[in-house]
Amino acid sequence: MSNQDTYNYKVIRQFAVMSLVWAVVGMSAGVLIAAQLAWPVLNFDTPWLTFGRMRPFHTNMVIFAFGGSALFATSYYVVQRTCHVRLISDKLAAFTFWGWQAVIVAAAVTLPMGITQSKEYAELEWPIDILLGIVWVCYAIVFFGTIMKRKIKHIYVSNWFYGAFIIVVGMLHIVNSAVIPVDLSKSYSAYAGVQDAMIQWWYGHNAVGFFLTAGFLGMMYYFIPKQAGRPVYSYRLSIVHFWAILFTYIWAGPHHLHYTALPDWTQSLGMVMSLILLVPSWGGMINGIMTLSGAWDKLRTDPVLRLLIVSISFYGMSTFEGPMMAIKTVNALSHYTDWTIGHVHSGALGWVALISMGALYYMFPRLFGRELYSLKLVEVHFWMATIGIVLYISSMWVSGIMQGLMWRATNTDGTLTYSFVESVQAMHPFYIVRWSGGMFFLLGTLVMCYNIWKTIKGTTPVEAPVLAPVGAH
Ligand code: HEM
Ligand code: HEM
Repeated sequence: MSNQDTYNYKVIRQFAVMSLVWAVVGMSAGVLIAAQLAWPVLNFDTPWLTFGRMRPFHTNMVIFAFGGSALFATSYYVVQRTCHVRLISDKLAAFTFWGWQAVIVAAAVTLPMGITQSKEYAELEWPIDILLGIVWVCYAIVFFGTIMKRKIKHIYVSNWFYGAFIIVVGMLHIVNSAVIPVDLSKSYSAYAGVQDAMIQWWYGHNAVGFFLTAGFLGMMYYFIPKQAGRPVYSYRLSIVHFWAILFTYIWAGPHHLHYTALPDWTQSLGMVMSLILLVPSWGGMINGIMTLSGAWDKLRTDPVLRLLIVSISFYGMSTFEGPMMAIKTVNALSHYTDWTIGHVHSGALGWVALISMGALYYMFPRLFGRELYSLKLVEVHFWMATIGIVLYISSMWVSGIMQGLMWRATNTDGTLTYSFVESVQAMHPFYIVRWSGGMFFLLGTLVMCYNIWKTIKGTTPVEAPVLAPVGAH
């Protein structure tokens, strides 16, 4: 019996394909809003096309639609392959696919209409939140149910990361979404004042920690060893990494609320825990990169592996930068500036998008039983993505630090040296560079879509080898 029959590949295929579709939608919106910041005329005086509405559209499409679909696809793949069993229920798995797509479509319609709770990354109004909550609980049942009926005693480390991602995101979503509804499209938060802000950033930071990090670490621990053909560098370190990340992340949220009405001790606690977070993050990064020890030569010939390894390097970079930005005196400069946006995208493009794309390149040929159409095109994609990220983040660093310095510059008599509009003028060239970086990244993604399309339509069959899960014995 082939892997195609043993495992439920159908739902994985669906999520994997949709992840690419949403990548194009979300990144196109990113390129649009980047262009709007450089050339405001592109708002077209049309309410639903303005920056204010397209920005949350962008973040929802890239994080939840693209990233989320990639996480569903890879977690369903990894849990089946490492547990040697089919998902516990094909029907429930199909429900998670259609339910998740329905949430995304509802987001794609309501956000441009201006229907929003105004909480960043938790904008969706309560009826959509309820659907999201139901889908998420079903996801947890499918994932953990599959683990419970596994044939392999050991639970491979990737599943621990995916499991934590599922539990914590469910918890964050339910707590942060508590509202008092007014009508179908309007509600008020159940929390007030600074408590509301703290709950929102407890949610927001852990959305970074668990949605944008833990799940993708699950990917790292499965797909890098697979693509490299080597076991994880240190399995023991991966377990320490897991518990340390889990323990530390949950405290770091207050670094989003420095110099606010939040009690000072809470801000300092958030800062200290963010600094500590550097250690487990780098432990994980080293574990991922060192998995290549003895196989470094493969980087020369395998562009998929290169994508994966570069993604871990960006993970290392953003988890160094984050703790630095969490230091209160540094944050006094960086907050409100483009530096934050640069940091976000070194994590989002460098880490989240590249590791997902590497994993998708690994999975597609196996899911469809076809040879990958062109390695040369993966190489082209790799360079376009890398150039795009470098242009994006370096322009935001320069622009952000310049903004921060211009805003705080004072003359000897205490008046401000620069007006706000002068800082906006100074940022203009960097916004154009950022937009061109985004274009490179988007075009690279389109090259990937073409390559995958040709792979699926291709005729060269390949049977996925039935390999034992790495490190599982
Ligand atoms: C072609 C690629 C992309 C482009 C051109 C792009 C562009 C942008 C722009 C212009 C903003 C608004 C910045 C501002 O308000 O000053 C933004 C925000 C954001 N983007 Fe992207 N983006 C891209 C890809 C992604 C991806 C793949 C992710 C996540 C996986 C992502 C996550 C975010 C987040 C979280 C924010 C909000 C940041 C904050 O509030 O601090 N972006 N993006
Ligand atoms: C050790 C790890 C990290 C720490 C301590 C950290 C810390 C920070 C800090 C201090 C800020 C600025 C807060 C502000 O001034 O408002 C920030 C913003 C942000 N970071 Fe990180 N970061 C880390 C890793 C990452 C990673 C890997 C990503 C992945 C994509 C990421 C995504 C974001 C996002 C989306 C924001 C913007 C939030 C907003 O909308 O304001 N961070 N981070």
